[in-house]
Parts: sequence; structure tokens; C-alpha cells
Amino acid sequence: NIIPKYVNQLFIPPVFKPTIVKDPITGEDISHNYTISMTQFMQQLLPPMFPMTTVWGFEGTVEDPCIGEISCFRSTPGATFEAVRDIPVNVQWVNNITEPNLFAVDPTLHWANPNNMPRPIPPFLPFPPGYALAQSPVPLVVHLHGAEVRSDSDGHPEAWFTAGEEKKGEAFSKSRFTYQNTQEPTTLWYHDHALGTTRLGVYGGFAGAYLLRDPNNKISPLLPSGPYEMPIVIQDRSFNEDGSLLFPSNGVVPDVHPYWRPAFIGNTIMVNGKVWPNLNVERRQYRFRVINGSNTRTYNLKLSNNQSFIQIGSDGGFLPFPVTLTELLLAPAERADILIDFSMLEPGTNIIMTNNARAPFPNGPIPDPDTVGQIMQFTVLDTPVVPPNKLPAELNKIPVLTPDVPKEVLTLNVIFRQPTMPLELLLDGQVWGAPVSELPIVGSTVEWEIVNLTGGAHPIHIHLIQFQVLNRQNFDSTKYREEWIKLNGEPPLQHPTISLPVEPFLEGNPIDPPPNERGWKDTVLMMPGQVTRLKLRWAPQDANPKKVKPGVNLFPFDPTFGPGYVWHCHIIDHEDNEMMRPLKVVDCPI
Ligand code: C2O
Ligand code: CU
Repeated sequence: NIIPKYVNQLFIPPVFKPTIVKDPITGEDISHNYTISMTQFMQQLLPPMFPMTTVWGFEGTVEDPCIGEISCFRSTPGATFEAVRDIPVNVQWVNNITEPNLFAVDPTLHWANPNNMPRPIPPFLPFPPGYALAQSPVPLVVHLHGAEVRSDSDGHPEAWFTAGEEKKGEAFSKSRFTYQNTQEPTTLWYHDHALGTTRLGVYGGFAGAYLLRDPNNKISPLLPSGPYEMPIVIQDRSFNEDGSLLFPSNGVVPDVHPYWRPAFIGNTIMVNGKVWPNLNVERRQYRFRVINGSNTRTYNLKLSNNQSFIQIGSDGGFLPFPVTLTELLLAPAERADILIDFSMLEPGTNIIMTNNARAPFPNGPIPDPDTVGQIMQFTVLDTPVVPPNKLPAELNKIPVLTPDVPKEVLTLNVIFRQPTMPLELLLDGQVWGAPVSELPIVGSTVEWEIVNLTGGAHPIHIHLIQFQVLNRQNFDSTKYREEWIKLNGEPPLQHPTISLPVEPFLEGNPIDPPPNERGWKDTVLMMPGQVTRLKLRWAPQDANPKKVKPGVNLFPFDPTFGPGYVWHCHIIDHEDNEMMRPLKVVDCPI
């Protein structure tokens, strides 16, 4: 790898500037409104001596923090949203992509398909010229990951639209989305979610950070802010010699899916749109909102001087207590709010954030310590020492959730063509298009036992709510799989499944979640050979547990309205090929 490291300086995305709508009488903010377009342009991702890269990113109004000048700005990751709790944000999303897709669209997947081309039927080698029809126009829809929103603002995968809204998916109703911001302050992120092409949209650059703040939160004032706080969006990438992004498109089962590959693993690491950047830091504590925005790669982050750091928040808000770590495992779409203290270090010290997670996780090769084993560098400047604030022992109160409806057992399956070549991966044996089977009752609290029958780890993401990890437990997946297939048939299935209790197959004792998974989560890693148990409450995150009852809607909107939600694997390469299922919140059992 000839790309020099730490020549690039870290790019800190600016903040999108809203139009503020105020109440004429009280003068309070009623809403923050934005118009953001998705566009294609060139950005310097590689070090300055290398060519620029054609990327996708977001364009909107930003304010220069130093001179207060307002300008139009575009970048990948997109500029950051700074949202305030309880002040709704409205975004008019605009698709300005008139160019063909940057990467090979695989029309044999279940995908947005704006031209309504017939799904190619194998065998089809060599690829028919009709495949060009899949490249243009580019369908897009933005999802605010982790947000409590009504489903017609959620960026449903079939609510995509093309440039000028000329073509729209069947779930499309509008392109101006409302985010209520009623949940706890946390690190959210926004990204493309179009059906069957999300891996291409996010890889091209459609991702950015959305920070939700609560002015009444007692912890926030103790934390580094301003120039000492920033999103850190980690994404692995590969490049062609001309600087363009490389996304391999030689399908692993080419006579079925000519372009789809089960796991994109890049050979360089990009942080905030710069390959292997350096960040000059002052001798003080920093707050980093770390977002894993990679397609497949899980990271296990460490600092090269073995220094510890503090995790204060997870996907859905502050952890119950600060957690001191020397390594941090972060799967795709997971977020970690961390504090790193540089105050004790000598000026001129270089620290590297390293990664030793096998990719694909957990059974792939160990990352090369000279390339993808490194993420970014911190260089300590010669500045006065500012010691960090002391944190209270308690950061947040996390209510204990008590299930009040029967437990559900769900499986993760993989369908193989040859023993090692995955054709597709499925949730509970069913494809995306099979009838909806997850129908949670609004206000209910349910335990989901998710049985991983595959050989890999999958970060499972559920829309609308923040949930809790109860525990994980080993089980005999071979025996379970046999019995499950006897009961339900060989997947892919077109019907809801009969759930097979996992108890007879369990091994050992339940394993408590590690301390940094004891807060709110919306994405959680399911390890192979394990069942992962979650507690999901179909109510707003801040709801009083006493008021939450099956059939009672405490959301500030009707969660049964609109096209509904989804749950899926956040290895986007899996999500794009059937590892996603619809989910509908209902008023009462159907
Ligand atoms: Cu981050 Cu359904 O997505
Ligand atoms: Cu997966």
C-alpha cells in the first residue's frame, strides 16, 4: 500500500445552518428547517499528491464558526446536524443525482428498480446489455439512524425517489421529513437507505452525523465542547489508481447475482472523508462521537500507547455510568461517545488509534498492522495543560424494562449456493418481500431472542426504538438449525415461521452485556453460535415505565401511520440482499 499515512489532516464537517421558525409571541423556536440535497462532486479523500475522488455527499447551508459567514457547502460525510431536544427538525431532502450510479447496481437483487426493468432470470452470462438500465436514475432516500420518528419520515427503503422526484418507490409519500427529537441526547447518523442499493449509496458518501443535544442535561456542561468535540466517522475504502472509489463487483455466485458480494472489506481507512488523517490535539480532554459508517468492517479500537479512554454514551444516549476502556469494539452503524485525555502527554507525542478486529468479524483475517490496522493519528501540540473535569458516578438513569407480552424467538439464517458462497442471508428464514411477520403492539415490551445460525457476526438494527441488551448465551447451532428446518422448512420461506424454543440447545450460562452495552442501543452485534436477547419497548425512550402498557401509544405521533418500519442487518451488503424485514407497529394484536 503506497498511500502515505497521516499526511491528510482530519476534516471536521461544519454544521448545517437551519432556518429557525419562532413563535411570534414567546420567541421560542418552533422548528429548525433545512433543505439538503444529495449531489455528486470531487473531494480530496487521498493525500494531497494523489488525485481527487468523485464522491456522493450532502449539500446545504453552513456557517463558518470563525467569521460567521454563511455559505453553501457540500461534503462527505455531510455537514453535521446540531439538533435540540424537543425542537422538531424538518428536512426537505433533494435528490440531485442525475449521473448514473458510481458502482454496479445488481438488478438481480430485490431493489428499488426505478425503471421497472424485469428482474433478470438466470442463467445470464455474459451479462445482458439491459443491465445498463439499472445504473440510472439513482434512487435515494435518507434514514436518520436511531431516531424516534413517524414511519413516513423514517426513510423506508421503498420510499426512495429519483432526481426531480420523477420516479418514486411504492412507499413514497413525501420528501420533507420531520424529526421530533423527543428522545435522549445522543449521536445519531443519517444515511441513504434505498432498497437494494444502500451499500452503494453509503459507500459513495451518503452519510453524516446528527447530534441531538438536551440543554437541560446535567452532564453535557462537564464535557469537552466546541473545537474539542467532533464526530469521527470511520469507513474503510479501496481506490483505483486514478483516485476513484473501488467497489468490487465480481459476484461470488455470478450466475445468480452477477455483482453482489457478501462483505465489502476495504484496504484503506478513511475518517471523516480523509484517508488515514492526523489530528493535532491540545493537551486536554476531547470528546469524540465515533460512528462506524463502514459497509461490513467491525473495528476493535485501541490507542497505540495503551492509554485508556472513557466511554460515556452508546447508540441511544448516555451510559448509566462512565466506562473506562482500553479497547472498543464497534460494529457497523454502532456509535460510541468517548473521551480521550491528552493532557498528560508530552508535546510532539504521536498516538495512533489502531484496529485489530478480524474482517469479516470475527473469523476473517487479522488486519495488517501497517495498513487497515491503523485508523488515525493524534499529534500532541505544545499547549498549556487543561485537566479534565471529574465526571459524576451516574450519567443516566436507564429504566428496567419488564416484558409484558410473550417472548419471540427469531433466527438469522444464511442460504448457501456452494458450502462457502452465500447466496443471501435472511432474518427468520424469510425474504424482504414475504408478508410482514413482526407486528409489535404499541406500548408493549417484548423480549426478542435472536438465534444466530450463521458463521459470522451481524449487527442487527431495529428502527423506531432504542432497546436494551439483556444477555447472550452459547447454544448448539447445528442441532438448532436441523430442528428449525424440520419445523419450518428450508429457507427462503414465504410465510411466517413457527418459533422453536432455544432452551434445549443452550450451553453454559447467560453472559451479561459488557458495561458499555448497558445503556440504550439501536444496533447490536450478534455473535455466531450465540443467542442474543434484547428487550424492546414499543414506546418513546423517555416514557415512564408505569404508563407504558400494551395498546397505549405514548409517542408524540401515530407509529401505526405510514409505510411502517424495518429491522435489518447493518452489514449493508447483507441488508441489500434480503437480510431486512418489514416491521409494523399495531394498535392491538392482529
Ligand atoms: Cu442505519 Cu435501517 O439503518
Ligand atoms: Cu449480516
